[in-house]
Amino acid sequence: MFESIALAAPDPILGLTDAFRADARPEKINLTIGVYRDAEGQTPILECVKAAERLLLESEKTKGYLGIEGLPEFLRLASDLALGDLVPASRVAAVQTPGGTGALKVAGDFLAANLRGSRVWTSTPTWPNHTSVFETAGVATESYPYLSADRKSLDLSGMLETLERDGRIGDVVCLHACCHNPTGIDPTRQQWAEIAELLASRGMLPLIDFAYHGFGEGLLEDRVGIQEISKQHQEFMVCSSYSKNFGLYSERVGALLSVCSTDQAATHVSSRLKQSVRSNYSNPPRHGGAIVATILGSSELRSQWEQELAAMRGRIHEMRTRFVEGMASTNCGVDYSFLLDQRGMFSFSGLNAMQVDWLRSERGIYIVGSGRINVAGITPSNLSILTAAIAEATSV
Ligand code: LMR
Repeated sequence: MFESIALAAPDPILGLTDAFRADARPEKINLTIGVYRDAEGQTPILECVKAAERLLLESEKTKGYLGIEGLPEFLRLASDLALGDLVPASRVAAVQTPGGTGALKVAGDFLAANLRGSRVWTSTPTWPNHTSVFETAGVATESYPYLSADRKSLDLSGMLETLERDGRIGDVVCLHACCHNPTGIDPTRQQWAEIAELLASRGMLPLIDFAYHGFGEGLLEDRVGIQEISKQHQEFMVCSSYSKNFGLYSERVGALLSVCSTDQAATHVSSRLKQSVRSNYSNPPRHGGAIVATILGSSELRSQWEQELAAMRGRIHEMRTRFVEGMASTNCGVDYSFLLDQRGMFSFSGLNAMQVDWLRSERGIYIVGSGRINVAGITPSNLSILTAAIAEATSV
């Protein structure tokens, strides 16, 4: 039976991580997967996480199953972090999920089962797994333009015109709360207000992927899109991830927060989300959620976390600036200063597929095929190798 099964294409992001591991060249550089690295190229465990784990080791009394929805304290604090007092807690149906991807999948399952016929609109470009997750859940996807023709800024009018012309009442629009993946280009507050208004006038549901909270400008600043959406929408969904901002990648911690128009609707939606979780992975893993809840629930650990998050954000910002300066000093003839307007872990470099291939095969520098660079993978010691190689790639 299995002999007839064809080989699947490698994942466009995780497949490159496998290829990078197999590459024997010592000077290789990995700028693919969105994982934070420090100046030494390591992905550290945050000090606040270590402290929370020490507390948990002493205080945890059971490894018994969590409820289908997850740890109540985690859900309360996760809602507060993403939504603050923008909406009353009683109108939020929340489930703890295995990472942000888990939250997107539960949302997709919920839409497929309960809002039949709704399509999910994703930006072009977007994180490649968005379409796979929604389509696997049985939801059709459509796409709206996001990048201007010169690939340096947001094409707001193209985005709004497409959604206005082709969107249907009940369709869902997937938006990136901050640090757009892969472009690093975010709407301004005014642009968010226009997006919120268009979706409200067309009866479309915002579904906000919040994977990089705190990596843009700060915890409150990165919520600006959600704030604008909440002014004009009684209903929206937020998929939060704690992989990057708590460095809890392999613990798989996320949350799906469904904001409803009434308390009763929230109770009903919650029951449906739990149905989806139960038939999928039954209930979420405890440890990562317990770490996040311990940190957010302690004023001391929370302030330590905010400092560590600010340091990660600052290092990425500094490396983006130094990369732009480094490219300028190669006299390659390409002005990379547009990268300075981008936010978060990623930068859309403008490198084309041939240049990306050349960098990988000739120099052992791994970049996602779209030209997306993980800026957090740049370190003081690989910067000049990288800029020289990119200058060469763009001149061959
Ligand atoms: C990325 O875009 O690199 C991250 O979101 C990690 C992933 O799962 O793809």
